[in-house]
Amino acid sequence: MIELSNVSKTYPGDPPHQAIAGINLSVKPKEIFGIIGRSGAGKSTLVRMVNLLELPTTGTISVNGVNLLTLNEQQLRQQRHQIGMIFQHFNLLSSRTVFDNVAFPLEIVGKSKVEIEQKVTSLLELVGLSDRQHYYPHQLSGGQKQRVAIARALASDPKVLLSDEATSSLDPETTVSILQLLKRINRELGVTILLITHEMEVIKQICNRVAILDKGGIVELKSTVDLFSKPETEVAKRLTRSALHIELPSHIESKLAKAAQPNHVPVVRLTFVGEQVEQPILSAVSEQCGVKINILRATLERVQDTPLGVTVCELMGVETQIAQALALLQQKQIGVEVYGYVPVAA
Ligand SMILES: Nc1ncnc2c1ncn2[C@@H]1O[C@H](COP(=O)(O)OP(=O)(O)OP(=O)(O)O)[C@@H](O)[C@H]1O
Ligand SMILES: [Mg+2]
Repeated sequence: MIELSNVSKTYPGDPPHQAIAGINLSVKPKEIFGIIGRSGAGKSTLVRMVNLLELPTTGTISVNGVNLLTLNEQQLRQQRHQIGMIFQHFNLLSSRTVFDNVAFPLEIVGKSKVEIEQKVTSLLELVGLSDRQHYYPHQLSGGQKQRVAIARALASDPKVLLSDEATSSLDPETTVSILQLLKRINRELGVTILLITHEMEVIKQICNRVAILDKGGIVELKSTVDLFSKPETEVAKRLTRSALHIELPSHIESKLAKAAQPNHVPVVRLTFVGEQVEQPILSAVSEQCGVKINILRATLERVQDTPLGVTVCELMGVETQIAQALALLQQKQIGVEVYGYVPVAA
């Protein structure tokens, strides 16, 4: 649905700044795809290139099978109707009512009054704002403003919706309700969503797949469940740790050694996915290998519709028992990440 091939972007200047460095990305139809990265990683640059608000320096971009870079201005304008966009600061027209904001893109393409009336009414119903149609933006809450922006973005029946930090200025509760709305739009209207965020919580709640963007490049790309259960890069480990609230307690962190050494035992993160959360795996490992398990943190969450259990624990025992326990966990397909080693308690 969205194909980026070898896309890079260098902003001119002295010195020039490369914001995106040779990215390949393929977003499938009807998928909710997330891009996460810290400030300055290049997220907005990337998403703005998907509708050519920003021109790439190299590479090709196609949406719905059409290579955007080959289009003339009029063809591009037409293609852009297939691509809706929402922003952090809503970008509503302050002198227009809710109704007229949503009507705006329809007026531009010359729709009749009757068509506009019908379309806007049904969109306001979809986003739950039928009773606010005569309000002006300054009379709305942030969440309501974003709902208007979403209705406006959907006015031209786009196949793709781009979202650049759409929930970043909203409180957590409003964020959840906007994300639920986006999920419904994806499910009921079949709109493909490419969503940019710096919050792992947003990814956890609605994205099917996710790419981590760092310094203009994609460093890890996989399903959201896999990212949470098997993060590979340091940045993925850090992001998932804080989103799951499984950082090490400070009294453990302060005595953590990176490498194995005598009289130390490993501190590990174990991740259980799906049916694994219902099995007494830890007691089985403890019984079979003779290790004792001291749980430091534990959480059970849902990522999309998959249960995900994470335990951070010390594996206590002699070296051979610990090695056996780690092997057994791996054999049972449990995600194992060794955080480090701490001295055996006296
Ligand atoms: N128009 C521009 N001219 C020059 N440099 C730019 C321009 N827009 C962005 N940049 C630079 O490109 C880099 C990436 O910016 P971008 O806005 O894409 O990051 P971001 O990941 O969206 O960050 P944030 O999370 O803060 O929104 C930054 O270093 C930024 O300074
Ligand atoms: Mg940005």
